[in-house]
Amino acid sequence: MTQKKRISFGSKLGVVAAAAGSAVGLGNIWRFPYELGLSGGGAFLLIYILCVVLLGMPVMLSEFVIGRLGQANPAGAFRKLGSHRKWQLVGIMGVCSSFLIMGFYVVVSGWTMEYIFQAVSNGFVNKDTAALSQAFTDFSSNTARPIGWMTLFLLLTAGIIIAGVEKGIEKSTKIMMPLLLLIIVALGLRAVTLPGGTDGLKFLFYPDFSKINSTVILNAMGQAFFSLSLGMGCMITYGSYIKKENNLGKTVVQVTSLDTVIAVLAAIAIFPAVFAFGINPGQGPTLVFITLPNIFDQMTGGYIWSILFFVLLCIAALTSTISLLEVIVACLTEEFKLSRIKAVIFSSVGIFILGICASLSMGVWSDVTVFGLTFFELFDSVTAKILMPLGGILMTVFAGWALKKEAVEAELSSAGNYKVTYFKIYLFLIKYITPVAIFIVLLNELGLGKPLF
Ligand code: TRP
Repeated sequence: MTQKKRISFGSKLGVVAAAAGSAVGLGNIWRFPYELGLSGGGAFLLIYILCVVLLGMPVMLSEFVIGRLGQANPAGAFRKLGSHRKWQLVGIMGVCSSFLIMGFYVVVSGWTMEYIFQAVSNGFVNKDTAALSQAFTDFSSNTARPIGWMTLFLLLTAGIIIAGVEKGIEKSTKIMMPLLLLIIVALGLRAVTLPGGTDGLKFLFYPDFSKINSTVILNAMGQAFFSLSLGMGCMITYGSYIKKENNLGKTVVQVTSLDTVIAVLAAIAIFPAVFAFGINPGQGPTLVFITLPNIFDQMTGGYIWSILFFVLLCIAALTSTISLLEVIVACLTEEFKLSRIKAVIFSSVGIFILGICASLSMGVWSDVTVFGLTFFELFDSVTAKILMPLGGILMTVFAGWALKKEAVEAELSSAGNYKVTYFKIYLFLIKYITPVAIFIVLLNELGLGKPLF
């Protein structure tokens, strides 16, 4: 690497804001509720929280350590720190995941833009559940309109990435995050007081253990990786921008707690409404887009709330896509010496093509399938259920076995500045528990480890 000082995040709040900006996004508000709905409620929530603590936190800490120690993009960090060149492949795998995630993420982000438009033009008013559901299907299965919004969204992301790390990423998150939190709490308050809303809370908080099976566990694990932006080098890239004096352990606790709180709050807003309006909780990706407009319609000042909400959701999605694109761009500029602009253009074109496939698979290409999955489902499943967990295994194994223990400890304590009382537990987890647990969940789903559960 060059001796030039690497760009870094400014203030300490900036670090948390940027990492939380990456983590908090459609994963919390769109994906978490529908995955929970598909997997039968409370039991999923319980397993999800277990996955966040036992798998998510150790993986995030490992990514931060690898990134800040390596001072490079994922591929570069593994190449520099690993004793064998093959480690670089983990970084490259991350770049591929990034492309695939972006491929469907920009489509859903485009949907949020359409919903801003609908909110502004009073499109939700006096529509019942059936009408809202029909409106969503008509829109998402359309060919041109969703692709138009997706393109606009991708251009926004690309523009911010061209502007650079400090200016672009940090500023946008600091204001948005508290606002988003506030509005979700307001939504939740309205939802739980709807007639019949308590059934939703029961669904959410009363675990029905008979619903747990290997698929539910895999889904919860995939959701934890997705929501925390783990297993593909996003947090390695951000780790490399974190200043040496920042406390990594504390950052991990703050980011994971905030991310989990927002996801649970989103579910508290959505499920009471699902039950109050007689919506099917297991309907998948459409769930949020049908449930939320129903709540807005029942709120005083719903017009303003709905605009604010979809604007914030769109910004939350933007701070996540920024982090995803940054992984690809950091890799292309540092490893292949492309200029920043060229790297952004090249990756955006790739994402645009994937995005078109994902968008069309909601409509005219809905019967084009690979392994029985549409493009949209394929990009989502391959990343959340295979590539990210696999990345998580490799990253924890790398931090636990390939890096020197002393180097990891020095990184966590910022060369002795902080007490790292958790070090032994962390080391034990990343050496023996986290990678093995992820592996068992993956094997189990393939049907190879059935006797284990
Ligand atoms: N975590 C983000 C969300 O919840 C999405 C995201 C951003 C992501 N960067 C990632 C997911 C890296 C996986 C890997 O919306």
